[in-house]
Amino acid sequence: MEKKELILEGKAKRLYTTEDEALVIQEFKDDASAFNGVKKGSISKKGEINCAISSIFFEYLESYHVPTHFIQIQAPNEMLVKKVDIVLIEAVMRNIATGSLVKRLGFQDGKALDHPVFEIYLKNDDLGDPLINEYHAYALGIALPDEIRSIFRITAKVNAILKSFLERRGLILVDFKLEFGRDEKGELIIADEISPDTCRFWDRKTHKKLDKDRFRFDMGGVDQAYQEILERISKI
Ligand code: TMP
Repeated sequence: MEKKELILEGKAKRLYTTEDEALVIQEFKDDASAFNGVKKGSISKKGEINCAISSIFFEYLESYHVPTHFIQIQAPNEMLVKKVDIVLIEAVMRNIATGSLVKRLGFQDGKALDHPVFEIYLKNDDLGDPLINEYHAYALGIALPDEIRSIFRITAKVNAILKSFLERRGLILVDFKLEFGRDEKGELIIADEISPDTCRFWDRKTHKKLDKDRFRFDMGGVDQAYQEILERISKI
């Protein structure tokens, strides 16, 4: 399927129409950004690596009947996906306290959470993607109560599935962010990507960070870390 018109360009991806109205092509860029676009850069081969990593996660989740927008890989950095109406929420699940949870609530960095923490953020760059609760989402008209419940259920299921998949590959799923869209039937499906840009992965033995925190905090070895995640999850 050919790329036709550019619909949307984000910080890390471009979206194109195709000859099929129900399908779009998601092109992954090497561009990287952090802290709501304040820090910018590029990570060598990130587009191809994140496309490959996301496709492995999407296919694995589909095998557990988790609905995603994934159809197939088109080119090394292009994924054919279902067209959706994106829900203006970022769903985050955390197994270990780090990042904004530490800053906001004073958890000890690296503390394993007895109960995974589920959060929703409003997808709005101008407002800096603020943390919201379900009542804000209803009042803003961005999701119905049943939809927030579905988003929570699917995110919790993804956490259980990917946590054990990654554990078997020597990795800790520290936290991750999912985006959701409504398909042509109005059903919620996972959209966007699942990659080291949107998750935190630590090596199980050394706790070495293998995700975008290496870029955020100038830790070096960013492209090697992304490559390592791809290699580890490619093993059967
Ligand atoms: P946080 O600790 O910065 O709130 O991030 C929680 C998780 O969400 C982490 O895995 C990174 C991911 N995330 C994104 O994918 N996009 C974002 O814009 C932010 C702030 C976090």
